[in-house]
Amino acid sequence: MRKLSAFEMSRRNLLVGTATSVAIATSGIAKAQNDKAQNSVSSPLTAARPDAPAMATVSFSVNGEVRALELDTRTTLLDALREHLHLTGTKKGCDHGQCGACTVIVDGQRINSCLTLAVMHEGDSITTIEGLGTPEHMHPMQAAFVKHDGFQCGYCTPGQICSAVAVLDEIKAGIPSHVTGDLNAAPEFSNAELRERMSGNICRCGAYSNIAEAITEVAGRPA
Ligand code: FES
Ligand code: FES
Repeated sequence: MRKLSAFEMSRRNLLVGTATSVAIATSGIAKAQNDKAQNSVSSPLTAARPDAPAMATVSFSVNGEVRALELDTRTTLLDALREHLHLTGTKKGCDHGQCGACTVIVDGQRINSCLTLAVMHEGDSITTIEGLGTPEHMHPMQAAFVKHDGFQCGYCTPGQICSAVAVLDEIKAGIPSHVTGDLNAAPEFSNAELRERMSGNICRCGAYSNIAEAITEVAGRPA
């Protein structure tokens, strides 16, 4: 019989070892699939409807009114407001946190409502553009946007106004921004602070100079 060379020996060992590993891995996968199948059969929820979404109840205050919703846990706050509560003033632009059209104020802080799940806001207080003012009694920021023509198509405007209201509160609260020079001093309202803080709100119509004039007036500074 022909004697195997050292190379052929190691190649054979490698093939045998690989085949063993594949067999072990395959049996592991089969076991995991079997376990999963057994578990899903034993769960009454998944047995009834394996693709059923996980649902949860969430309750929060929207514009001063307590609202309770039964939602798919994947529902964003933006979709909860627009699709479930029919508050369509808050707009969906990009749905990816890039345009600011969906900005609302939650417990005094502005957030992109497309980037957060509704079920994360149990007990929170949410203000949308509908809660800031009405056509008869506009919030000073809404009135300033009208006065300074701070919009064209208006799609970005609810987000711009909610953001602007929160920006002035942030400055009043002494919260610094990326362009604040002295982090130990209270930030001052300035053109640079305004542009930096509003940079997350995109206006496709380019109404920026009028938006800046409106916010500057409400801040109590000469335009
Ligand atoms: Fe939320 Fe654009 S829709 S940031
Ligand atoms: Fe049209 Fe801003 S007014 S996008």
